[in-house]
Amino acid sequence: MRMIMLGPPGAGKGTQAKRIANEFKIPHISTGEILRNAIKDKTPLGEKAQEYMQKGLLVPDEIVTGLVKERVKEPDCDNGFILDGFPRTINQAKSLEDMGIGIDSVININVCEEDLIERFTGRRVCKTCGATFHIKFDPPSKPNICDKCQGELIIRADDEMSTVKKRLKVYTEQTAPLIDFYKNKKLLIDIDGTKPIDEVFSSILKRLRGEAV
Ligand code: AP5
Ligand code: MG
Repeated sequence: MRMIMLGPPGAGKGTQAKRIANEFKIPHISTGEILRNAIKDKTPLGEKAQEYMQKGLLVPDEIVTGLVKERVKEPDCDNGFILDGFPRTINQAKSLEDMGIGIDSVININVCEEDLIERFTGRRVCKTCGATFHIKFDPPSKPNICDKCQGELIIRADDEMSTVKKRLKVYTEQTAPLIDFYKNKKLLIDIDGTKPIDEVFSSILKRLRGEAV
């Protein structure tokens, strides 16, 4: 099972990808998370990526494609994986094809801009383990404390409103063309992402199992 999560920033790609990964016992590969960890660890990759991420811009294709190419060679990917946040340009999608990696499904989560803004505003992430919460829609048991590791919850560095606007613009210009790209290949599964988290998850599962929603 090789899947891609597509959708604008804040649509719930990470939230759903984690659940899908658990359900199908496959790794969740988030390029955003890999890059944020590199920034936290102050690696050369992290230093390079930060220049782009803090401005809401995409990290250059060759850097991200190289990361994914290495990651999918790991043995835990033998039975499949779910890619979250990759590909993000037509160029990246073509590189994936050049790697000889066939994709079974592309899950496209649809959420309007007004809802996205509410999701960014309330998102909190764990400073230690990166787990994601929302103060209204997915609150932690104790305010500002991670349920998973008891770490401190903070606002993600690129969730500042001017950066969010830039990320949404970059999505429209560079990533949204992937919708038609995968629709033409008959791989696209359109999901209404405006429903509560559990409902979105169950409609994804139904669609993956070929049931009517
Ligand atoms: P990345 O980390 O991939 O960020 P993104 O695509 O902007 O998406 P987000 O992680 O912000 O949102 P999400 O869709 O995962 O939503 P979430 O589940 O958190 O990338 C960050 C940066 O890294 C990029 O800007 C770029 O610079 C770089 N990068 C990464 N990949 C790259 C690539 N391939 N090429 C080049 N550069 C790359 O949910 C959002 C909030 O809403 C949460 O608080 C959640 O609790 C809540 N929520 C989720 N679902 C629901 C729901 N159904 N109802 C209510 N609330 C919900
Ligand atoms: Mg994410």
